[in-house]
Amino acid sequence: MTNQSLQKRNWWKEGIVYQIYPRSFKDTTGNGIGDIRGIINKLDYIKSLGVTMIWLNPIYESPNDDNGYDISNYRAIMPEFGTMADFDELLEGLHKRKIKCVMDVVVNHSSDEHEWFKQSRSSRDNKYRDYYHWWPAEKGKPNYRWSFFDEKSEAWKYDKQTDAYYLHYFSQKQPDLNWENPKVRQEVYEIMKFWANKGVDGFRLDAFQFVSKDTTFPEFPKGYDDTVVSVIKYHGMGPNIHKYLKEMNKEVLSKYDVFAVSEGVGSSLEDAHNIVDEDREELQMAYHFESTDLVNSLDKCTLAEIKECFTKWDTSFDTEGWLAIYLANHDQSRMVNRFGSDKPAFKDASAKLLNTFILSMKGTPYVYYGDELGMTNNGFEKIEEYQDIAAINGYKSAKAKGEDLDVYLKTMTLLSRDNGRTPMQWDASENSGFSSEKPWLPVNKNHKTVNVATQEKEENSVLNHFKKMVALRKQHLTLVYGKYTLLEKEHATIYAYTRVLEDVKMLVLLNFSEKESSIQTPEIKNIDSLLINNYHNIVLKDQKITLAPYQAVIYSLKK
Ligand code: GLC
Repeated sequence: MTNQSLQKRNWWKEGIVYQIYPRSFKDTTGNGIGDIRGIINKLDYIKSLGVTMIWLNPIYESPNDDNGYDISNYRAIMPEFGTMADFDELLEGLHKRKIKCVMDVVVNHSSDEHEWFKQSRSSRDNKYRDYYHWWPAEKGKPNYRWSFFDEKSEAWKYDKQTDAYYLHYFSQKQPDLNWENPKVRQEVYEIMKFWANKGVDGFRLDAFQFVSKDTTFPEFPKGYDDTVVSVIKYHGMGPNIHKYLKEMNKEVLSKYDVFAVSEGVGSSLEDAHNIVDEDREELQMAYHFESTDLVNSLDKCTLAEIKECFTKWDTSFDTEGWLAIYLANHDQSRMVNRFGSDKPAFKDASAKLLNTFILSMKGTPYVYYGDELGMTNNGFEKIEEYQDIAAINGYKSAKAKGEDLDVYLKTMTLLSRDNGRTPMQWDASENSGFSSEKPWLPVNKNHKTVNVATQEKEENSVLNHFKKMVALRKQHLTLVYGKYTLLEKEHATIYAYTRVLEDVKMLVLLNFSEKESSIQTPEIKNIDSLLINNYHNIVLKDQKITLAPYQAVIYSLKK
């Protein structure tokens, strides 16, 4: 490839990832919890989407303090989800259908019920003691560190047994592993090899920016506060992170045809490049949080902010380094609620627009289960309705700090992770075809209309639009590698850009608003044909295009 495609081709750049939250996908045992056999049953559905990879949230043995992100055995399957034989069958079924499998690797921390931690906490001279971060109480209270899920946001937890504190950046049942100990790193590489030898194709490195730590745990300088930006700046990208990534690359990644994607990229574009640029020999891909963080309060973001964020990252990664592109995952509420509109009149159109967007941008698209249907937030209202430790402990913390609990609950109704974890909507039956019994989280009431069975039959459904958009991306490398150029930056409601690869040019127009909106841009005179449209019509008159609310179109342009 020449000029405009300055990126080298790779299968993982050309892939489209479908993220499955196993707990919520399909239950075959009648316990209200999804399982691996459920995914096996739905392999033909997954294939029908056209996606080329799946990413599975953790399926390993876990006491489920944080829904599987607290692992007690990295080489065993959570009994609720099935057996290793089920997993092997799943992998075979995927590969038979030419779908790759990406696994979560959660190694910033383990569960406190992992054998390593049980040993480690048992005595100060246990051989696993240094697998975790301990601070002997006789040295006084350690300096403050932030914890995401702790009621008091405190990462140090006093443990009576050995009169010492251990570190947990997430919940108290998720003690941080000590990456500065080479034995821990070797354990992790062996675990990764175990899965790579089974044939998995990729790894998603959970919370990875936090693994390396200055183990003297100095006091944070003035200026530190508990905002996300500060938390990442002072806890992330520790002193040896690149050394460890290079080591992981050498020991594991370079030995298999796999890729690894980092969750989190530090605090700057430069940090991100240092993780994924090819000559660094570290990871292949990363995802940053700046775009999802655009909506982190009841005030939604503006289109100008969306344009600015995506353009900044795209421009910086134009020729070097590769990113994931996504609008939702299991840590977010539904993309329609955050970036589109769940009002009946706009729900479907905005879901189609958002899918058009992520599937027409550079980067590997990650699509969260249910977003191909336009699933929306469940709208939990009372704290008792939540299952997620982040929401529950966040509530306790807000209460302790005397914050306005009504505002907290309203914010959770929009943003809580449980909104994005409700059961997959397969059909209009009572439990949406997800389970024969009461599901672990309630099914969204709108499953009577928003479901696979209904949408498969409707030609213009969100689902069928998604499939068309996937097919379009797979047909045109321009949508994968083509140069992105933002047009009409100041336009308040339309996001317009071109993608260009050699002599193939495409124009993408997305009306991010509930009102009709027009645009005039010189590219319009070069329009050749309409490639995709989420409405039946499009108004093009006198070099001006008028888009209906949330209308999304892609044109090919003349050479
Ligand atoms: C990551 C995961 C999230 C989990 C946390 C702790 O951010 O995506 O779901 O709670 O790490 O493992």
